Amino acid sequence: MKFLITAGPTREPIDPVRYLSNRSSGKMGYAIAQAALDAGHEVILISGPVALPAPPRAQMLRVTTADEMYDAVHANLGDIDIAVLCAAVADFKPAAFAPHKIKKSGGDPVIQLVPTRDILASLGALPSKNFLLAGFAAETEELEKNAREKLKKKRCDAVIANDVSVPGLGFESEENELTIYLPDQKGRVLPRGSKRDLANALVKILCAMK
Ligand code: CTP
Repeated sequence: MKFLITAGPTREPIDPVRYLSNRSSGKMGYAIAQAALDAGHEVILISGPVALPAPPRAQMLRVTTADEMYDAVHANLGDIDIAVLCAAVADFKPAAFAPHKIKKSGGDPVIQLVPTRDILASLGALPSKNFLLAGFAAETEELEKNAREKLKKKRCDAVIANDVSVPGLGFESEENELTIYLPDQKGRVLPRGSKRDLANALVKILCAMK
């Protein structure tokens, strides 16, 4: 099967030296890419800026901004079977890019933000698609409620949720705990484990759904 996976954060430039971003390390998305490759699948990995080596044999596309990630995803839907959108895409970007470094002497700057395009929702809204669509939900409260809302609102086949408020799990860490939500089914917990073990389990579950 052919996977398209997004991973890592995006960076939204403010001026030539500054950007808005988030704490995503890309480890979960890269682990899913590696697990899919290990299971003999093809992988297109679309990654924001991270400090991780490209998984050997992945078709790697490196992007920086949410807009670039959106375009790269839509340009590579071709014959994919499963899309796993794991990237922590910035929800907002500066309304304007300052072409020169913003100086302290100019007073307190006000940076107006505008929403980025939602890549996951844009795939869920496609009039027809032949691939399975899985999104991620990083939450700090009400995991099930928020994950199920995303499942519905973004029209995904599965939402994989994790609680990013638990110390030692999720962002930047080696371990995670995931719950997979499918429409009309009880959440399936993949208990705390290495991102690698969780990724192997997740790839098996997604392939069985396709
Ligand atoms: N996502 C995306 N494009 C965006 C923002 C998010 O594809 N511009 C995807 C992420 O890759 C992830 C899922 O949407 O699979 C959940 O992202 P999240 O930011 O948590 O969802 P939101 O709908 O923005 O909800 P919240 O109000 O919790 O921020």
